Amino acid sequence: MNIPRLVILGPQGAGKGTQAGRLARKLHIKHISTGDVLRDEIASHSNLGRRIAAIINTGRLVPSSMSNAMMKHRLAERDCANGWIADGYPRRIDQATSLLKYGKPNLIIFLHLSDKAAVQRLSGRRVCPKGHVYHLRHDPPKKQRGHCDHDGLRLRQRDDDTPQAIRRRLKIYHKETERVLDWYKERVLMVTVDAHPPIRIVYRDMMKKLRAIPWLSSQLATK
Ligand code: AP5
Repeated sequence: MNIPRLVILGPQGAGKGTQAGRLARKLHIKHISTGDVLRDEIASHSNLGRRIAAIINTGRLVPSSMSNAMMKHRLAERDCANGWIADGYPRRIDQATSLLKYGKPNLIIFLHLSDKAAVQRLSGRRVCPKGHVYHLRHDPPKKQRGHCDHDGLRLRQRDDDTPQAIRRRLKIYHKETERVLDWYKERVLMVTVDAHPPIRIVYRDMMKKLRAIPWLSSQLATK
């Protein structure tokens, strides 16, 4: 049986975190978001966390040496043994070649979204300190306004969801991460999903495409 080793790619706000979380729960695999791991380090108030915050909050990428080491270590942990979905990694060619050495992906999911829609979405995003993601209009919490449905913690806006940082992040996406997509097209099976429709439609369309992949279809049917 193929163990799912999935990578979800797309511009900021495409819904990588949103869809990866749902798919990971469906397949009982681990959702690893490099952004969440980096934000956890910031929340620990360590010296490293302060250095990371200065980079992330202005919309730049942390050095690949850092994200590569982090992902190599994380994907080797026991909770990834049954499969994983990497969200936010790789974003540069040097990260993609590094990942080949310790966890060659068997499927790339590309969420396609225009820059205009990305900016609109990020301005309404709210997150809880543990990483659960909401949107003021498209995906508000169901239990208590302004609080996370999963852990009750107060929701807040991400420090890098400012207009200036969003513009810089999208620019880096077009310059660096789109090259990763081209690189993967020749090496790993890729499915493309239109990320403009509402969350449940994007999920439905993604699942339809995943069910058409024989080795994954059997796993989706049993879980
Ligand atoms: P990261 O946290 O990965 O941020 P990002 O790449 O900018 O992506 P986003 O989280 O903004 O978008 P998403 O596609 O996950 O959208 P979401 O599901 O939240 O990285 C943050 C930073 O860490 C980077 O800028 C960099 O500095 C650093 N970093 C991370 N990885 C790195 C790496 N590999 N190398 C170097 N540095 C790295 O959805 C967005 C909003 O839209 C939410 O409010 C959601 O509710 C809503 N939404 C989602 N889908 C829909 C829909 N279909 N319709 C309507 N609303 C929707």
